[in-house]
Amino acid sequence: MHSIKVWDPFVRLFHWSLVAGFTANALFVDEDSDLHEWIGYAVVALVAARILWGLVGPRTARFAAFLPTPQAVMAQITDIATRRRRAHLGHTPLGALMIVNLLVTMLAIGATGYMMTTNAFWGIEWVEDTHEALVTWAELSVVAHVAAVIWESRRTGVNLPRAMVTGRKRIPDDINMVP
Ligand code: HEM
Ligand code: HEM
Repeated sequence: MHSIKVWDPFVRLFHWSLVAGFTANALFVDEDSDLHEWIGYAVVALVAARILWGLVGPRTARFAAFLPTPQAVMAQITDIATRRRRAHLGHTPLGALMIVNLLVTMLAIGATGYMMTTNAFWGIEWVEDTHEALVTWAELSVVAHVAAVIWESRRTGVNLPRAMVTGRKRIPDDINMVP
């Protein structure tokens, strides 16, 4: 087993703060309260900071390093189909697609939430319906995200949730890295 540093403190803090903020607003906080709006804006601010970090942060945090090519996505699907166990240094290609989906969806939830507080859009049904539908989409995405993380961890023998806590991936010695 060898261990490689992959996630800087900002990415980890961002991840678990996003989990807390999204879960609080989606499941626990009264949607008519000021707190709901504050938490919602905090989530938007977190995502905005993450996007900036994706441009200037360390290598594994950068979009340029983890936004996958179609070939990389196909390679991961082929690995899964042929039971070839290979680990990725940063985000996996399929994981990266889910990340983009989650980040964009969070911003869209924030935008529709804000619209409901404006005179122009307050009380307009489709805005509220869209806000709600986006939250449902995000919830389904999170279920798929967590299932995929657990499944990929078992498949490759690399505990991915642990890496999102400690910042380091522990890679079994018999596993090759994807170049
Ligand atoms: C509300 C729930 C969640 C949301 C919105 C969410 C969102 C995200 C986002 C945006 C990233 C990208 C991180 C970055 O590069 O900045 C990510 C990665 C990741 N998340 Fe989550 N997450 C959630 C729950 C969880 C949970 C419960 C776990 C643990 C089981 C988890 C494990 C991971 C892991 C391991 C990665 C890295 C994936 C990879 O290596 O490709 N997430 N998540
Ligand atoms: C992580 C971000 C957010 C999540 C997960 C979230 C989640 C939700 C949920 C589940 C509802 C209830 C939908 C329904 O059943 O009708 C709701 C309603 C609402 N949200 Fe959000 N929201 C977020 C961000 C925001 C933001 C940023 C704002 C405004 C600044 C906002 C304003 C509202 C308003 C005004 C309602 C409607 C309340 C009503 O029905 O009177 N939300 N939100």
